[in-house]
Amino acid sequence: MTHLRRGGFLAFEGGDGAGKTTQLDLLESWFQELAVPYERTREPGGTVIGERIRSLVLEHDQGEVDPRTEALLFAASRAAHVVQRIEPALQAGRFVLCDRYVDSSVAYQGVGRELGAQAVAEINAFATGGLQPDLTVVLDIDPSAARARREGRDGLSDRIESAEDAFHDRLRHAFLDRAAAAPQRYLVLDAAASAQALHAAIRERVQEMLGQELSNP
Ligand code: TYD
Repeated sequence: MTHLRRGGFLAFEGGDGAGKTTQLDLLESWFQELAVPYERTREPGGTVIGERIRSLVLEHDQGEVDPRTEALLFAASRAAHVVQRIEPALQAGRFVLCDRYVDSSVAYQGVGRELGAQAVAEINAFATGGLQPDLTVVLDIDPSAARARREGRDGLSDRIESAEDAFHDRLRHAFLDRAAAAPQRYLVLDAAASAQALHAAIRERVQEMLGQELSNP
């Protein structure tokens, strides 16, 4: 029988198509094999109120949502998530696998929607009471390389695609800047690697958090 003294909070971040879902699935299967108690959740969402906020901000029939309103809605969803799901799970000794967290707001609202990384970090510090993941996995993807891969040999970029690449590149650097500011709490991986190689790298790092008795089942 294994006894975990405390749970661990793992967040997964990255741009569109970086492979977060695949990596969350693989980590979840591994936790099941090891009988590690965990909860998988996502943002925005994860609570009743959070899922309602999710449809407000992500569905396209809700009228115009200005950047400040959007940032506050994501932060409100996160506040509920921390109090209702994440903290209780951690206190019960469970691991929390969270698809996106504060860094997504800093990237998408702070940098993408130009509210400023600092301002968005501050409202999120308020929303979360300062709760930070023990580890944030950033699946780093080069937007133009990702697109070129998708398009194969016909991948000549037009003006719109280049503009989109520039936008996604700014988001990408927002994640990388956050990681560089606190490297001990981040694992940045090149999302161009195979799913198995990425999973192996994540496992190695998470194994350190699980403790000796779980590392050799
Ligand atoms: P989702 O359909 O879950 O996409 P993904 O699989 O890429 O996570 O939609 C989440 C979208 O919400 C995604 O485009 C990123 C955005 N988002 C923000 O803009 N700010 C945030 O704080 C969060 C959590 C997500």
